[in-house]
Amino acid sequence: MSLVLFGPPGAGKGTQSQFLVDRMQLKHISTGDLLRAAIKKQTDLGKKAQTFMDKGELVPDDVVIGLINEVVSSDPQAKYLFDGFPRTPPQAEALSTLMKPHGGISKALFLDVPSALLMDRLTGRRVCTKCGESFHVSMNPPKQEGVCDKCQGELIQRDDDKDEVISNRIKVYEENTSPLKNYYQDQGLFSSIDGQGSPEDVYSRLERALKD
Ligand code: AP5
Repeated sequence: MSLVLFGPPGAGKGTQSQFLVDRMQLKHISTGDLLRAAIKKQTDLGKKAQTFMDKGELVPDDVVIGLINEVVSSDPQAKYLFDGFPRTPPQAEALSTLMKPHGGISKALFLDVPSALLMDRLTGRRVCTKCGESFHVSMNPPKQEGVCDKCQGELIQRDDDKDEVISNRIKVYEENTSPLKNYYQDQGLFSSIDGQGSPEDVYSRLERALKD
């Protein structure tokens, strides 16, 4: 089974993806992570993506669809968890076509979190520069401030986790990604999960939704 996990910025997609890939045999594909890796390496694609990501805008559809195409065709047997992709109706159409030979998408799981909570989650997020582990200054603090519990790497704030960029990311989400709720409802694949409460509570709801 391949799954789509979507929702607003800070809804907990990355956090829940870790639970899902740990417990199910799924290959995790996060377009945000792929794009940040390209920026770190300063590839042409990374340099192009950075100009959009720094402002909280979406990277153009052809760029991200190309990235997904490359990953999916490199491992045709795998079952995937798509985290943060698709984000627009054209991306959803492209994914549907790309996944046809792989058995399609089984469910599109939507993490529902009110906007007020998103701001708190994102301004307080700190990520490890070495392993990518995510923490939160008050909701999930590391044992030692500024240091990753897992690998002792340095914890930093993402460039796009600044107030003004977060506001734009939420606006961009409402305009471009929110319509995917209807798209997946029409296909009978949509499942909405309350994303409030502890990460473990949210994961229990995800598990229940997957059994439905
Ligand atoms: P991306 O990296 O995908 O960012 P996002 O969608 O904005 O999502 P986030 O990573 O910010 O949040 P999340 O939902 O994963 O939450 P998390 O689990 O980390 O994309 C970044 C940018 O790349 C985009 O703006 C765009 O420019 C570009 N991009 C990416 N994909 C694209 C695409 N398909 N098309 C075009 N452009 C694309 O949690 C957040 C915080 O909350 C953490 O601190 C965490 O510890 C905490 N937290 C999580 N769950 C809980 C909980 N239950 N209780 C308390 N705290 C919690």
